[in-house]
Amino acid sequence: MNVQANDIRSLSVSDLERLLVIEQAAQQTPWSEDTFRQCFLSDSRKGWGILYGQVLVGFIWVSIIEPEAEILEIVIAPEFQGVGLGKKLLRYTLAALEENGINKYFLEVRASNEAAIGLYRSMGFEKVGVRKQYYSTINVNIKEDAYLMILK
Ligand SMILES: CC(C)(COP(=O)(O)OP(=O)(O)OC[C@H]1O[C@@H](n2cnc3c(N)ncnc32)[C@H](O)[C@@H]1OP(=O)(O)O)[C@@H](O)C(=O)NCCC(=O)NCCS
Repeated sequence: MNVQANDIRSLSVSDLERLLVIEQAAQQTPWSEDTFRQCFLSDSRKGWGILYGQVLVGFIWVSIIEPEAEILEIVIAPEFQGVGLGKKLLRYTLAALEENGINKYFLEVRASNEAAIGLYRSMGFEKVGVRKQYYSTINVNIKEDAYLMILK
């Protein structure tokens, strides 16, 4: 699968329906439509999407607090995972942010999310802390730890 760099573009509110489809297919506790709408309304949030052909197959949202940025989420549609698209999108995002003066990145990730942790490590993120029982799970009685990771 060959995806060119110009197949990454800024997200717009017209992508909302597709974002929800991908989010619901890929995430354990998906963001709501309202959360996406808040992202589009926020001055400090920025989103990019990655296309395969004309179809949006993944996206990333960041929150910018200069000179730092938080990776809020990165999601690739299940049928397109594992072929390098997540890494391509994250690499593009970090380069775009760096051009705008960002020099430190941080994020939280579920301790069990091996794919995401593998992606972040492959881009140089390091685990610097644990937030105990931070995430809800599909079982209301069980919470899951978050790893705090940073890249400088
Ligand atoms: C996490 C996610 C975005 C990764 O995207 P992807 O396109 O599948 O990942 P890539 O194919 O680009 O792989 C990038 C790196 O991640 C690592 N990786 C990917 N899948 C992995 C897995 N299942 N286990 C361990 N490491 C994995 C690999 O080390 C790879 O690095 P390499 O190419 O240098 O070997 C994708 O799995 C996803 O959308 N998951 C569901 C949503 C989610 O959990 N998002 C993160 C929290 S918001």
